[in-house]
Amino acid sequence: MAKLSLARGVCALLGAVLWAGSPVWAQDISARLMACAACHGADGNSQLPNIPSLAGQPKVFIENQLVIIREGLRDIPAMKGLLDGVSDAEITAMAVHFAKLPARNAPTPGDPALMAQGKVLAEGMRCGICHLPDYRGREQMPRLAAQREDYLLYSMLQFKNNQATGRDTIMAASLYGVSDNDLKALAHFLARVPP
Ligand code: HEC
Ligand code: HEC
Repeated sequence: MAKLSLARGVCALLGAVLWAGSPVWAQDISARLMACAACHGADGNSQLPNIPSLAGQPKVFIENQLVIIREGLRDIPAMKGLLDGVSDAEITAMAVHFAKLPARNAPTPGDPALMAQGKVLAEGMRCGICHLPDYRGREQMPRLAAQREDYLLYSMLQFKNNQATGRDTIMAASLYGVSDNDLKALAHFLARVPP
C-alpha cells in the first residue's frame, strides 16, 4: 500500500515536471489527431479525393505547412479554424507523429504507357534534385512517392496556375509551361512510386 502511494506520488510529481517544461513529446495531441484522421485517414493515408496523405512526409515539411495554414497564409477552407490556438510545440508533435507513420502503396496499378511517360518527365525535369531520386522528400520538400494521384495533380495545377497562395514559388517556376497532359502523367507515375 505504502509502496503504491509512493509510486503514485512520484508519477504525479513527474507529470507536473513534464507539464511545466512542456517538452514536445509530452504534448497531448490525441484529441487534435482525431480531428485530422477524419480527413487525412486514421493512419495518415488519405482515402478522400484531393485530400493529401500525411504519412511519411518529412517533419519539417509538415511543420512549415501547419504554420502557414495556421497563420492563414495557405488558405485551406476545409481546415479553417482548426489550428486556431495550436501552439508551435503541438505543431511539432503532430509533425513528428505523421512523419513516423508508414506511407502506403497506391491502391491501383499504373497504366504502363502513362507510367513510362511520367517517369521520363520526372527524370528529365529533375524533380529528384529537390524531392530526392526516390521522391520520398526531405526537409521542406514533400514526399511525392505514394501521395494520392488526384492531390498531386490538383496541387501541381495550383502551382502552375499561380493559385498556390502562400506556398513556395519554387514549384511554380519548376512547372512553368508544362502541359496539363504532362502533369497528369507525372501525377500518375509519382503516386505509384513505392514509398
Ligand atoms: C475537413 C477536412 C480536413 C481536416 C479535418 C484536416 N485537414 Fe489537413 N487538409 C485538408 C485539405 C483539403 C488539404 C489540402 C488543401 C489544398 O491544398 O487546397 C489539407 C492539407 C493539409 C496539409 C498540407 C499537406 C500537403 O501535402 O501539402 C497538412 C500538413 C495538413 N492538412 C495537416 C492537418 C492536420 C495536422 C490536421 C488535424 C489537426 C488536419 N490537417 C485536419 C483537409 C483537412
Ligand atoms: C528546386 C527544388 C524543387 C524542384 C526542382 C521541384 N520541387 Fe516540387 N516542391 C519543392 C518545394 C520546396 C515544395 C514545397 C512547397 C511549399 O512549401 O509549399 C514542393 C512541392 C511540390 C508538390 C506539392 C506536394 C504537396 O504535398 O503539397 C508537388 C506535387 C511537387 N512539388 C512536384 C514536383 C515535380 C513533379 C517536380 C519536377 C517537375 C518538382 N516538384 C520539382 C521543391 C522543388
